[in-house]
This record gives sequence, structure tokens and C-alpha cells, in this order.
Amino acid sequence: MTVIINMRDGIDERKIRVAARFILEGKLVAFPTETVYGLGADALNGEAVRRIFEAKGRPADNPLIIHIADFSDLKKLASEVPKEAKLLAEEFWPGPLTFVLPRKEEVPLVTTGGLDTVAVRMPSHPIALSLIRASTPIAAPSANISGKPSPTLAEHVIDDFYGKIKAIIDGGETRIGVESTVIDLSSEKPTLLRPGGLPLEEIERVIGPVEIHPAVRGKLIDVARAPGMKYRHYSPNAQVIVVEGRRERVRAKIEELVREYRSKSYRVGVMATEEFEADEFFHLGRSEEEVARNLFKALRELDRRGVDVIIAEGVEEKGLGFAVMNRLRKAAGYRIVWA
Ligand code: TXA
Ligand code: MG
Repeated sequence: MTVIINMRDGIDERKIRVAARFILEGKLVAFPTETVYGLGADALNGEAVRRIFEAKGRPADNPLIIHIADFSDLKKLASEVPKEAKLLAEEFWPGPLTFVLPRKEEVPLVTTGGLDTVAVRMPSHPIALSLIRASTPIAAPSANISGKPSPTLAEHVIDDFYGKIKAIIDGGETRIGVESTVIDLSSEKPTLLRPGGLPLEEIERVIGPVEIHPAVRGKLIDVARAPGMKYRHYSPNAQVIVVEGRRERVRAKIEELVREYRSKSYRVGVMATEEFEADEFFHLGRSEEEVARNLFKALRELDRRGVDVIIAEGVEEKGLGFAVMNRLRKAAGYRIVWA
């Protein structure tokens, strides 16, 4: 049985203690963060962490992020904390930023997917922070079945894991909607491994230019440093097609594709920042923030409405748009139409 713990109206310390006990017993608890929901287990308990991989159907070489609530915990997990990490933590923690650092031996290899580095972040969601403080550092990937869009609502977690994990804390909709930005600080040059909820521009403002791992932009396969990048990601059941290019041409291209697929008797969904005629339509919102917040919900929702094809409007690749386009292109399996 899965316990649904309702905390939509704010933190309840008594309920937090119940969930913390589950974590300390080696059980799996899904909880909200400011980015997406996480599927948590005691990060230092290898057996517990193994259950995360099992439940998600996640390949064992795709490492997890460890969530902490106090900066001092970082020294228990990473053997070295370079000055860039200190500067960035000072500025952006708690928040949607993950560091990859050299691993301390105490961190089980299951947690790091066998790597000698460890990914750590301090989330800002009060429920996440309370849960960690009441238990221990928590390893948590996004709380979705491997390959599916990440969850931004407790309902998404329930769809994927009801009956398979100990508890789900419902804290309502997550604020940011895309996962944390992952930056590798374990080697010589700071390298972006995943664009995310903290825009790259913000990071560069603090530590200067950051390299971008080639796999971030392309569909490069088999990447040793960022194992997560080689797997199919964020895919709904429907085929996603992204339309990119000059704004004034994108509208006409989307309309053309809708006509084309409908004429072949496909049920067509559109997700975009302005209104479109289609079998199903999901409005992503107008600002960068709204689009990021709605992205995964739109993919899951259009799937639920039973469309065969999802045509998604591309957005500008700056700020949160970098993370949005990275997720969209992956969801589309790199099926991109240029307008
Ligand atoms: O916002 C987030 O980051 C969410 C919430 C729950 O905190 N978590 C999340 O975890 O997105 P997950 O497992 O879905 O993504 C973790 C990413 C993967 O791409 C993984 O490959 C990368 O971080 N990663 C973790 N440890 C790593 C390491 N040691 N070296 C390189 N990449 C690592
Ligand atoms: Mg994930």
C-alpha cells in the first residue's frame, strides 16, 4: 500500500516525522521539490537506493542526485569542495542547482552509478528541506518511470508509482517545473551537463564562462561523464514533433503540420504559447517561467487525452528556454521541423 500524505496546505511536522521514519527504514518516499517531484531514499543506504532503480526501471549506471539541507553535509559526501562550488552555493543554494564533485567513500557506488563523483543539491522547497532535516541526505531522481516526463504534480507520481512505493507527499504543483541545472565541478573546467531551473547566464555571472558538454545540444550517445544523457527521456506515448525557427514562420508551419497529420486521420495535439486549432490544445503560457512550469504537465496531459501526435512550439534558447528546448528535443527523439 502507498500512503498519500497531504501537505498541500503547508508543512505538518508530525507528518514529516512519519515520512522521515520511512526514509530511515530504507523505504521509498516521493516528495515535492521546487523543480519536480523526487523519488527519495536514504542516500547512504545502498539497499534502499537499489529500490529506487528497481521502481523506476532505471539503468544502474545512471547516477542519482543527493539532496542535502545544510551546507556542512556537502563535506560528508564530497572529498573536495572547490571554490566555484562555494561561490555558487552562496549565491544559489537552496535552489535548482546541482554540483558534480569528487565522491567520498562513504557514498555507496549504487547511488553514484559506479562513478567516483557524486551529484549534490540543496533544494529550496520547505517540504524537501524539512524531510531531509528530519532524516538524512536523500538520494532522489525525478519521480517518474524511467523515460517518461518528469512529475510536477502528486497525481503524476500516483500515476507512475501508486502501490509500488511506501509514501507520496502531496505538496501541490511544483513551482519551476524543469529539473535542476547540473554542473560538473570535478574536473578542470566547470562544465554544464544539464541545463535546468537555474539559467546558465546566472551561473556565468558568478564564476565566468562555463563549458557546455556536447551531449547537451546533440543526441550524442554513450557519454561517460554524464551517463543520464544517453537514455531516451521525457517521452509521452504520442510522437512529439518540435517546430523551431523564426517566430513569424513557426505559426504557419504548425498549422500546416496539423492539417497534414489530420488528413492522415491522426489525432493531433498542439502545445504552444499562443492559441491553435487542433484536436487537442494545451496552452503553455506566455512567459519563460510559465512555459517551463507547464512543459511536463502538457506532455502528460495531451497523452491522457489520447492524441497520436503532439506538435510543440519551440521557444527561444535563453534563460529557462535552454532547459525547455533540451527537454522538448529529447521528448521528440530529435524530430525537429524547421520553419
Ligand atoms: O531537479 C532535480 O534535479 C530533480 C529533483 C528531484 O531534485 N532530480 C532529478 O534527478 O532530476 P534525475 O535523476 O532525474 O537526474 C539526475 C541527473 C541525471 O542526468 C544524471 O545522469 C546526472 O544528474 N548525474 C547524477 N550524478 C552524476 C554524476 N556523478 N556525474 C554526472 N552526472 C550525474
Ligand atoms: Mg529524471
